[in-house]
This record gives sequence, C-alpha cells and structure tokens, in this order.
Amino acid sequence: MSDSSDHQNQTSKPWEHAKAGGSEGDPLAARFVESLSYDRRLYKHDIAGSIAHARMLCKVNLITDDDLQQIETGLKEIEAEIEANFDGWPGWKIELEDVHMCIEAALIEKVGDAGRKLHTGRSRNDQVALDLKLWFESAADHVDGLIDALIKAYHTLAKSHGEIVMPSYTHLQRAQPIVLGGECIAWAEAFRRAALRLSLIDDNFEDHPLGSGAIAGSSLPLDRKQITRALKYFGDPTVFGGIPDGDQSSSSIEATASRDIAIDFVYALSMTAMWLSRWAEQWIIYATTEFGFITIDDKYTTGSSMMPQKQNPDMLELIRGRCGNVYGHLMALLTMCKGITIGYNRDLQEDKRHVFAAYDTVCDCLEMATRIVSTVTFNEDRIKQGLDRGYLDATSLAEYLVTRGVPFRTAHQIVGATVRACGEKGFYKLEQLSVEDFNATCDEAMGGAKPQAAGEWVGEDVYEWLGPENVVKRYQTYGNAGLTGFEEQLKAWEERLGEQE
Ligand code: ARG
Repeated sequence: MSDSSDHQNQTSKPWEHAKAGGSEGDPLAARFVESLSYDRRLYKHDIAGSIAHARMLCKVNLITDDDLQQIETGLKEIEAEIEANFDGWPGWKIELEDVHMCIEAALIEKVGDAGRKLHTGRSRNDQVALDLKLWFESAADHVDGLIDALIKAYHTLAKSHGEIVMPSYTHLQRAQPIVLGGECIAWAEAFRRAALRLSLIDDNFEDHPLGSGAIAGSSLPLDRKQITRALKYFGDPTVFGGIPDGDQSSSSIEATASRDIAIDFVYALSMTAMWLSRWAEQWIIYATTEFGFITIDDKYTTGSSMMPQKQNPDMLELIRGRCGNVYGHLMALLTMCKGITIGYNRDLQEDKRHVFAAYDTVCDCLEMATRIVSTVTFNEDRIKQGLDRGYLDATSLAEYLVTRGVPFRTAHQIVGATVRACGEKGFYKLEQLSVEDFNATCDEAMGGAKPQAAGEWVGEDVYEWLGPENVVKRYQTYGNAGLTGFEEQLKAWEERLGEQE
C-alpha cells in the first residue's frame, strides 16, 4: 500500500527526537523515558483521536482524500491487530517511547507517506491530553456502573433483611436503635454521591485539546471545530462516546499543560475509596466474635497459616488498606503538577501511572464490595440478644418527656439520672423500672420540682417509648433510620434504580 517512500528509508527510527533507545542511545535512557508499558491501554482512544485529526486535515486540504482513506484504513487495521493480540502486537517498540509513536510508526510502515502526514499540526502534547480525556469518559462510565451494582446490592439486602432492629453507633458506642435497612440506605446514599462526583467530571469533557499542537497552536489552517465534529460522531460508544456537544479548548497553552481532569478524576475515586474503607471497617467490626453481627461468606475470608480456627476478613481489610494507595495516587498527581511551568513538561507523563492505578484499584474494590454485600449473612438472633444493652432507648425517653411538656435540657438531665439509677438497682434496661421508680428518680433528679403540664413525670404509656423495637417505629423525621424512614427511602431507591435500568 505504501507509495514512494524515500523518506521512510532515511532511518530505521522515524523521529529524530526519539533518540534514547536506538543503537546510538543508552538502553537505560530508553527504559527511563518510556511510557509505553502503561499507556498502551490508550490505543483505542489514540486511534480515535488520530482519525478525527486526519479528517480535519483532509477537510482543510492539508491531506488528500486518498491520504485520508489510507490513514483511516491503516489505523483501523492496527486497531484490529492490537485488539486481537494486545500483548503480542509487534508494533509495541519500547524505543519509540509511547503508544502514540508506536501506532504512528506502524501506520507509516503500512501506508508510507500518507501516514507521515498524520502528525501535521499535532504534537504528542495535545495528543496525549486528548487521549486521556476520551479515556476518562469511558472510565467514569465504567466506575458509575460498578457503583450502581454496589448500590443495588445494598438495596437487595435492605429489601430482604431491612427490618432487623440493630444498634447504631457514634464514637463506636451504642447510640440509638435503627433498622438494618437504615444502614444499607446510608451506604447507598454515600456511594450515590460518589457517583455524582464522577459525573461532574463530564463538564471537563466538553472541550478538547487537539489542534493546540505542542503549546502555541499552528500556523497551518487547522480547523479545530471540525475536529470537534469528527470526535463527536466518532467511535464505538461502548468504549467511549467521543466529545459530546462540546467545544475546543480556548487556550492551546492551558490545554496542553493542564491535568486538572486527572486530578478531579482521582479525587472522585479517592472519595469512593474513602467510603469503601469506612464500610469495610464497619463490617470488619461487625464480623468480630465480640459483635457477631455478620458472617462474611467463606469465599471472601481467609484462614491463618498457624491458627486453624481463623476466618479473617482479608478482603475487607484490603479494601480498607487500598484506600491508602488511592490517596497516594492523588497526592502524587497534585505534587507532580505543583511548580511546573505552564506548558507540557515530561513530569506530566507520570500522570497515567497514577490515574490507571487508582482506577484499577477502585474498580477492583467496588466489585469485591458488591460481592461481599450480596453474600453476607446478618445474624439476626445474635443482634437481638444484645439489643437491650447500652440504653439505646434513652433518647426516646427524653423525647417522651418532651411530649409531656418537659424542656429538653431538663429531660436530658432526668434521663441521665434515670440511667444511673437503673444501674444502681442492678437493672440494665429502662423498661425494668416501674412507673413509680421512674417518677421517684425524676423527682430526685429535679430536687422535688414537678413537671409543669402533667401531674407526674411519666405515665403507663412510657413503655411504648422504650425498647429498641418500639423506638424504631416512633421515628418520624424525613430520612430517619427507623422503620418509616427506611420504608420511604426504599421506595425512593426503587424508583431511582428503576429509572436507571
Ligand atoms: N508519553 C508522553 C506523555 O505521556 C507523550 C507526550 C510527550 N511529549 C513530548 N514532547 N515529549 O506525556
């Protein structure tokens, strides 16, 4: 297919500046400078960008229809070859440094001079910035799908076991009773927000850097709007959607110098990882013998090499631990961009290591989390056994007093004294006190003062406000973690999930 190819034979390496690894170069330099080992995964995005660029070059008559035809056919063949044999594709040559050079070199090998025209008005600086933008779009979509699956797993758990009454914790001390569904909804809500954070990155997809060249643009009549159009209708939407309705970036300098989108993306991943780690910690605690609230499926625990009885929650621990890696990648990106001049600097090449590693980690953790949530057992009997410990209903008693006209601060003081009195009598739950006991302790706590409205502090109906099972029925505020809140939220989630399907 190649036409007159004098130029081609000038050197075995097509670009003078790719000197590091050739026969005259130093292999250490070649290894040091390369990004091919980790940027290969951008091949589809690189080819998509190149085709868009070539279509524009043809439109403005910098290349002929025939050149364009050859470039497109060549690039599509290359894409198919890589697809068929990703690791073994012979075009991966480390001395060419990166995915961009390898694909361009392979194209030139296939189609000769037409291929040598592709890089007109383009630099790897705008090329790599574009490839990343396209990649982020598909990556954000993928993470969104994984978060969705996790939310669905919480939803399924909430639906089947959501009414189990359990303690909630603040300071990891027993707080108020809730239902399991309330906890499931809480995690789902946190992950919904994580997905939202990722979707905000979409705003950044609206402009693309191609046509910015190395830094200053080009004196050739490149039509950047034409590239936008080509990108918009380009490609396989299951891989990436192309640039949506967007525009081209308005500063060639900023477009090639910026890695804001990488930082935004890894920040959004960091927040996702943070929530995963909080959940992992909570369930690690639930899985202890002391708590015994949950049993993690055998598939997701491991034994000890020495202690035969062990069933360790290693997957959860790794989810918790890997959050640290993701934060590390965010910190690396921020630090990498700190203090470099506005224009491309090779420091920026390192971005991909961190972006890909953070992405791979969070994807793995999300998938693992979904499996753990889908297979966990909540040990209802065990949770029930300990439910009457820790005075989970103390706040409810204070609220009962409020309904009888007692100022909340006074009620708080009285209930505090009542809990202490309970302990002194050798009781462990408020329900064990008689109405007379209650009133006597209240009198004592208040130094003989009487409640304003009712004659006595408490009546027989106080027991309807005590006991975790009663309390979870009484919450009435929007978003509460008891039965009414759970039922309402479950319905809302069903609608949301229905919409997404
Ligand atoms: N592999 C490089 C990167 O990922 C491509 C850009 C190189 N540009 C340059 N002028 N050396 O950043």
